[in-house]
Amino acid sequence: MHENTKEITELVVNAKKQAYEGKGIVPEPAFTKNIKWPVKCIVGPGLEGAIACESKVGYVNGSQGWLIYRGYDIFDLCAYSTYEEVCYLLLFGSLPSEKQLNSFKKDLIKLRSIPGTIGLLRKFPIKESNAMATLRIGTNFLRRESTYLDLPDYKPDTTSAISADEDSIPMETIPKGERHAIYEFDKSKNTKKPDNVDKNLYSPSGYDSCCRLISSVASVAAAGERLRTSQVVIKPDPELSHAANLIYMITGKRPTAVEERIMDIILILHADHGINASTFASLVVASTLSDIYFAVGSGVAALNGPLHGGANERVLSMLLEIGSPENVKDWFKKARSEKRKIMGFGHRVYKAYDPRARVLGPLAEFLVNASGSSENKKIFEIAKALENEVVINLGKDKKIFPNVDFYSGIVYSCLGFSQEMFTPLFAVSRVAGWVARIAEYLEHNRIFRPRTIYTGPLNKKYIPINKRIKKVK
Ligand SMILES: CC(C)(COP(=O)(O)OP(=O)(O)OC[C@H]1O[C@@H](n2cnc3c(N)ncnc32)[C@H](O)[C@@H]1OP(=O)(O)O)[C@@H](O)C(=O)NCCC(=O)NCCS
Repeated sequence: MHENTKEITELVVNAKKQAYEGKGIVPEPAFTKNIKWPVKCIVGPGLEGAIACESKVGYVNGSQGWLIYRGYDIFDLCAYSTYEEVCYLLLFGSLPSEKQLNSFKKDLIKLRSIPGTIGLLRKFPIKESNAMATLRIGTNFLRRESTYLDLPDYKPDTTSAISADEDSIPMETIPKGERHAIYEFDKSKNTKKPDNVDKNLYSPSGYDSCCRLISSVASVAAAGERLRTSQVVIKPDPELSHAANLIYMITGKRPTAVEERIMDIILILHADHGINASTFASLVVASTLSDIYFAVGSGVAALNGPLHGGANERVLSMLLEIGSPENVKDWFKKARSEKRKIMGFGHRVYKAYDPRARVLGPLAEFLVNASGSSENKKIFEIAKALENEVVINLGKDKKIFPNVDFYSGIVYSCLGFSQEMFTPLFAVSRVAGWVARIAEYLEHNRIFRPRTIYTGPLNKKYIPINKRIKKVK
């Protein structure tokens, strides 16, 4: 393995050059102005085009292929930043000073250790469970370990709330554009810490919880993998960065500088991405004034699906199924005739090449070459041949290009992670975006409540069960 991380930075800088070729260097978001609610927009099925809220956390320009966190281009963050710095940026809105970053890192390191959660995970049937199910339940165990919410004598005080149910507002009224909850809980009462509670337990909101989740969801993922594979759970190493410690806790090996750098880049690339399905799921849960642990748990659940984060695992299975670069054309033809979706391609927002794939492709190639493994090389060649085939056939007309999940699995494999860990690793990184957006949304919280268009029958007469005519099968 090379020890020179400069080469990795150069790969990212080159990926940026390619992305901006012929486009002008400063990304100008098409739609970042302040809007006045209620807002008019055209909505397609799956809430396509719907505007759910305002945010300063991040921006995706799908037609140009740009991704921006708090104003900074993703390529620059990958080239020059670290995951910890990016988490700080997402949470607080600006890059930290050295002092701020050091203190933030110390906070994260303190929160890596989760003995209570690991104790509970040991009792959970991990070997029979999907790794994302373990991560989800582990997030709930974290809530138990670090907040006082589940203590038997703590009852959330909701008496001062008039109502949190906005269904009481007739749905047929035209939205007026309220930006706050019409009825809010009395926050001071609801978050009051019970007497005689352990000093390590805290309210499930605010900075502490955001840091706790960023730091210890990684520890849950690592412990889950070690327990699933009957290996000893590894204690976090406070001397290591978030990226290096993650590799260490999962594989048991302290990574080289290059491996650490690549892991850092993957974490940065997956940290935030607009209100995709999992971020939206976590915002919906947070908007009910449920707590941030439940909200992150629902993000994990949504990310698991094959149309979202779960695609990265499916990509590797698909490449193995294709078997060799020579089979790609026939495989693709058959997949198209069976109307199969090609995993790792297409995106609701990107109608151009996904910038994350632009970075992950070269990183995968670098690691494959460095590994010297003929098996890795073959998988990468199949991936390149498939990318070529899909882009030729579906790129121009349907705007289908590789997405973040296409090359990430090859990178994860080369770093020593099992296929089961691909989606949990995505979650470990995306926690940063989830908590940053939840914290932002709760400042002007309004419960999410879209409508459906009812297409069922009306005015049906109720028939008692004994008078219903049995249908003959
Ligand atoms: C990401 C995804 C769910 C976006 O879905 P969407 O915005 O609802 O887009 P649609 O599924 O409606 O697709 C639009 C068109 O492109 C086609 N399409 C989209 N993704 C495709 C893919 N991966 N392979 C083949 N065709 C695809 C659809 O068949 C559809 O074609 P049609 O207009 O002829 O019916 C979809 O592209 C997909 O399923 N990709 C594969 C899974 C994946 O990689 N997910 C990770 C996303 S980061």
